[in-house]
Amino acid sequence: MAQTWTPNSWRQKPISQVPDYPDLTALSATEAQLATYPPLVFAGEARRLKSQLANVAAGQGFLLQGGDCAESFAEHGADTIRDFFRAFLQMAVVLTFGAQQPVVKVGRIAGQFAKPRSSNIERQGDVELPSYRGDIINGIDFNEKARIPDPERQIMAYRQSAATLNLLRAFAMGGYANLDNVHQWMLGFVKDSPQAERYRKLADRISETMDFMKAIGITPESNPNLRETDFFTSHEALLLGYEQALTRVDSTSGDWYATSGHMIWIGDRTRQPDHAHIEYCRGIKNPLGLKCGPSLTGDGLLELIDLLNPQNEAGRLTLICRFGHDKVAEHLPRLIRAVEKEGRKVVWSCDPMHGNTITLNHYKTRPFERILSEVESFFQIHRAEGTHPGGIHIEMTGNDVTECTGGARALSGADLGDRYHTHCDPRLNADQALELAFLLAERMKGGRDEKRMVANG
Ligand code: PEP
Ligand code: CO
Repeated sequence: MAQTWTPNSWRQKPISQVPDYPDLTALSATEAQLATYPPLVFAGEARRLKSQLANVAAGQGFLLQGGDCAESFAEHGADTIRDFFRAFLQMAVVLTFGAQQPVVKVGRIAGQFAKPRSSNIERQGDVELPSYRGDIINGIDFNEKARIPDPERQIMAYRQSAATLNLLRAFAMGGYANLDNVHQWMLGFVKDSPQAERYRKLADRISETMDFMKAIGITPESNPNLRETDFFTSHEALLLGYEQALTRVDSTSGDWYATSGHMIWIGDRTRQPDHAHIEYCRGIKNPLGLKCGPSLTGDGLLELIDLLNPQNEAGRLTLICRFGHDKVAEHLPRLIRAVEKEGRKVVWSCDPMHGNTITLNHYKTRPFERILSEVESFFQIHRAEGTHPGGIHIEMTGNDVTECTGGARALSGADLGDRYHTHCDPRLNADQALELAFLLAERMKGGRDEKRMVANG
């Protein structure tokens, strides 16, 4: 029988990736303070997201999840949030058209501050310092003082998340996200792209569809669905003291919810079944993501599914696969088969970022072709297994950064130094993110045409 869960039962378990706070009294005081603050999201919203993800699990939708690898205190301007949202919504429209299915929109935003690290130590020359673990924990500057974990940062992260979420809600509901706007932005992107010819065909078809809808009276003025959009937030639930402080009972259902974001996920480094992160996540009712890397076995995955989703509730669990373009064919089929054999309901999503990181000219980067190639393999494998490729999970920004190589503007290793701003992993810039959406939409459409031809003999 499963042991009793409480919001702090994770404290009895072994834990990885925890910061070394020098002042535990100050840490407890901060957590106690956070526990008195208002929730950032409501349980009803998390349930709404879960029901949308349940449709995806049943093959009736597509999940688009994306945003910064790590949000930062330094980059908390309205323009950064707006530009991300603009790029993200354009991707969503293009993918909706490609998939001919609703796209569930989940940002890595308004809470994505804590980072797992492969090493506890960062070395520069002869100097060794504790690694940077995200702005919610310590500072990125390479000096001793900055790297000391400071609990006060949790309060700053909470306040930044609240402000970001407030602006996103205003954008989503206040008319900015209206389909006409998104469509015009997308046309602007296509016009300026070196690949304009290639993308124009799909863009024209979207324009024609919009004109047709307008002709029959379906406009943003007449239809709230075209004026407003559902947008959800997500982050890795790594810093469990912070998560616990924002874990609240929902008065409607009596269930516990993480109110730090709508969806939270468990990283590839902290998914040990008997450890703290799984313990915390199993007890809250939000939709959960689980990162699945090359070391995960089929049995290991089923054990985790038993812990995280014992009722086999659709929409509860999204498996975010991140193997690498050259490893996905080796690992994904066995996981799909294990899950299918046991009839587990999951959303299959592809994170084509974290298995494709290389170092070039001393920069961590990711070649666009490898990112695209991992997603394409993910689609092909699902088609071959008869399962639904349910979504993508990407690191992106709305800004014109130079962090990933390739794409239509053919960014090279030599360009990386121009605008390399990420606080952690390299992100797709707005153009690269949209290109990815266009290329995937073409592929989805191709897949549908193929099916139709088969059906029509
Ligand atoms: C991340 O999503 O930023 C991350 C650290 O991923 P993973 O746990 O898959 O390595
Ligand atoms: Co990352």
